[in-house]
Amino acid sequence: MNPRARWRSPCVTMSDGGYNCPVEFREYSADSDKDAVHRIWLETGWLEKDNKAQVEGMDLFLSAGKALVADIGGEAECLVLTMPGTIRHLKDDLPLSCVAAVTTSRIARKQRIAAKLTAIAVAQDAADGALVSGLGMFEQGYYNKLGYGTGGYEHWISFDPSRLSVNAAPRVPRRITLDDWKLVHEARLSRKRGHGSCNLTPPETTRAEMLWAKNGFGLGYADGETGKLTHHFWCDAKDGGEHGPYTVCWMAYETREQFLELMALLKNQGDQVLSLRMREPAGIQLQDLITQPFKHYDLTEKGKYEARASAYAYWQMRICNVPSCIERTRLPFGEARFNLKLSDPIEALLEENAPWRGCAGDYVVALGESSGAETGHDDSLPTMTASVNAFTRLWLGVRPASSLRYTDYLDAPPELIETLDSVLRLPVPHPDWEF
Ligand SMILES: CC(C)(COP(=O)(O)OP(=O)(O)OC[C@H]1O[C@@H](n2cnc3c(N)ncnc32)[C@H](O)[C@@H]1OP(=O)(O)O)[C@@H](O)C(=O)NCCC(=O)NCCS
Repeated sequence: MNPRARWRSPCVTMSDGGYNCPVEFREYSADSDKDAVHRIWLETGWLEKDNKAQVEGMDLFLSAGKALVADIGGEAECLVLTMPGTIRHLKDDLPLSCVAAVTTSRIARKQRIAAKLTAIAVAQDAADGALVSGLGMFEQGYYNKLGYGTGGYEHWISFDPSRLSVNAAPRVPRRITLDDWKLVHEARLSRKRGHGSCNLTPPETTRAEMLWAKNGFGLGYADGETGKLTHHFWCDAKDGGEHGPYTVCWMAYETREQFLELMALLKNQGDQVLSLRMREPAGIQLQDLITQPFKHYDLTEKGKYEARASAYAYWQMRICNVPSCIERTRLPFGEARFNLKLSDPIEALLEENAPWRGCAGDYVVALGESSGAETGHDDSLPTMTASVNAFTRLWLGVRPASSLRYTDYLDAPPELIETLDSVLRLPVPHPDWEF
């Protein structure tokens, strides 16, 4: 085992701000920790008892990513998993670490073990080159203490597929099964991507997600010369008997025609399936394709096949390396130069000798076609004060500076705010990958 992979916390009482028992943070071992981590996921309700597909999916996830555990009394009671990937900022792909799981057993709750183990995992990945860290939150607030800022809203639309107004006549699709997981993963990676889109790179993540879907099935087309899947979707039919609802777990396509063919394929299920639920694809206004949406909302209200549109902001991101993220930022709308006084709450959860301790500090930032950030201060420039949480949201384009200064920890003189509003005119970011 890597010697830097073990960290022991002293046995101290909670009133001292520490743990009330010895806790050891270390890397997960598939040989010795499997039963203990299965128990954690059973206790959190992430695994169903005797669901073999889910257990296989969990083990695959753990083998594909980097898993850390915290031991209490010699057994793993907390598990944190990160996955490598990329995030797109306009046209550039930056190394991403995705915090794919943070789970604590029933006996290890409320001792800040989970927060600390997550901070250690983020620190290791940042030290290994991840420029951004992202996650799907269980609730707002918890990961804010680790520097994460909330992303934009995602729309989830439930609709009767027969009401889709797509005229394309889809060809007979190919049935996609679990055996196709490598092709499916490749197709996901090469899908049409926009600003903020993320890829988790290990192929096993896709197999695990396919396993996780109940009564999962996929349909698609392999129009490529090499048998490559060009466009497809993967569905979870869990609640549905015959009539659904089905959930579209993901959809991957490269062109407008492929997107419309997939939508037409979904429409073709509409004589039998009364309700489909899907995340609005990035850049698409799904309501454009639904006939009489409001009438249908009223007709199905509170029913099993309820049609509705919901918006949730459930993903969060944080910058892990300010100079490298800014260096990869190319903005065609003008220039801004300013001092950045950045605070980062993750520092409080990390030991003095951690391989990375957050991004807090003073920087001189230049934004434009060619951008850069270096540590220091320039008296001739205006100063922005921000938490890394809010600054990440600004950098990703979740909200403009003029809005963030109303509701988040970010402020600057009015002229700088105005300049930033026009320089950081970014498309709405969407990860387009559920994590
Ligand atoms: C989420 C989970 C890991 C948290 O475990 P935990 O043991 O309560 O976490 P910690 O001990 O690290 O943190 C507890 C602290 O976070 C605070 N906290 C919890 N939710 C919070 C929120 N939404 N906003 C602000 N603070 C929050 C608690 O008040 C507590 O603060 P205190 O230490 O000052 O008392 C645990 O509930 C769990 O395993 N849940 C099931 C799986 C899950 O949903 N995981 C999250 C996936 S994103």
